Amino acid sequence: MAKYTVVTMPGDGIGNQVLPEALRLLKAVGFDAEYIHAEIGWECWRREGNALPERTAELLAKHKLGLFGAITSKPKKEAEAELKSELKGKGYSYFSPIVTMRQRFHLDTCIRPCISFPGNPLNFIRKKPSGGFEEPLVNVVVFRQNTEGLYAGVEWTNPPEPVRAALATHAKFKPFAGTAGPDLAISVRIITRAAARKICRAAFEWAKAYGYKSVTICEKPNVLRETSGMMEEEAKAVAKDYPGIALWSTNIDAQTMWLTKNPEDYGVVVASNLFGDVISDAFAGLIGGLGFAASGNIGDDVAVFEPTHGSAPKYAELNPPIVNPIAMFLSAVMLLDHVGETAKAGRIRDAIAAVVKEGKVRTYDMMRIVGGAKAISQGAASTVEMTDAVLAKIEQQASAHAEPECVAAGNGGRLRGHS
Ligand code: NAI
Ligand code: MG
Repeated sequence: MAKYTVVTMPGDGIGNQVLPEALRLLKAVGFDAEYIHAEIGWECWRREGNALPERTAELLAKHKLGLFGAITSKPKKEAEAELKSELKGKGYSYFSPIVTMRQRFHLDTCIRPCISFPGNPLNFIRKKPSGGFEEPLVNVVVFRQNTEGLYAGVEWTNPPEPVRAALATHAKFKPFAGTAGPDLAISVRIITRAAARKICRAAFEWAKAYGYKSVTICEKPNVLRETSGMMEEEAKAVAKDYPGIALWSTNIDAQTMWLTKNPEDYGVVVASNLFGDVISDAFAGLIGGLGFAASGNIGDDVAVFEPTHGSAPKYAELNPPIVNPIAMFLSAVMLLDHVGETAKAGRIRDAIAAVVKEGKVRTYDMMRIVGGAKAISQGAASTVEMTDAVLAKIEQQASAHAEPECVAAGNGGRLRGHS
């Protein structure tokens, strides 16, 4: 029997192209796992009226470890229009399966590392005052509270009367009180102290474990006094237990400016759900964008790892596939780290770093050319060729490590940066 069981959920579109490639790497480093395929996403919604079928949720509950590709999701009306005709008008509502999964399994800690690979042509560069350019390497890990905030799902168009009545007790609701129900949309931002404390604690623990000098709480407490105020308050309280790590507090809007002025200044960044979503994408843009952005959704019991990107439908049908599988690879690397297989994680990370640095094999995004069927004839590597290149590096490392003087396998230095 394998040591680990991983529930694999390729989902929709390019999720089906990149996830199998990640499994090739896990196999190459000898990860002792059995993989159980589970359905999720748009087809499940259309056929069954549920994008996260109960059988998939049960597999996750049982095996506790998931690797996820991407899903397609569409706005309410379009989603209802695509539902199988027998299910239409029967009260089915579309919910994003990934958001549902986070809430159902209480995957409250989302970790999104944004760490540059030296040699990546997509890395952030900055003009020097003297002319020329510099390329400050980014080494940021974003901690996003994953289950609350504006994504808690407490929202209405045409809110029921008791909700209106409750809102009417707040002086600031006065200007909205006369708005007709169908013209009034409300999404509630909910933050609990326990969750705020937990995500801040996770951020500081990470900083301590991996030698980051600062944790930045990225909110907007000057305006969102209650919710962002509580996040900041908890960050300050938690910071007291970590005397060697500085706590910085930034506003989300200013942070999106500063991260392109001096991204190298930041270490661990912690934020509530929406702001964490925004700031992690913004930092990801500095290290290569969607082809490089990986994430982990971690709860006390279940953990699911996924690239940040979506299903990229416009590329999903291309044969050969052209999308960059590195974000998916790095998600698998995070899974390895999570279960304590840090040497295997380090081997894959080092192999990716070597391929990027060498620069011979690049997917279309890394070449800054337009994606599409023509990308391959313009010299871009296919998704499979990128995997082959990383596999070749893993094999090279294996033979190098077989030499007695080079026995230290992998860097083991989880997420510290790429060597
Ligand atoms: P997307 O992330 O699927 O694609 C946006 C664009 O980014 C693509 O057209 C492509 O140019 C580029 N891209 C994405 N992944 C790439 C990769 N691995 N390599 C190279 N280039 C890549 O976002 P979009 O187009 O906004 O959404 C498409 C669908 O995906 C929607 O239905 C959306 O709801 C869903 N989505 C799902 C997510 C998830 O599963 N976690 C996250 C984001 C979007
Ligand atoms: Mg996002």
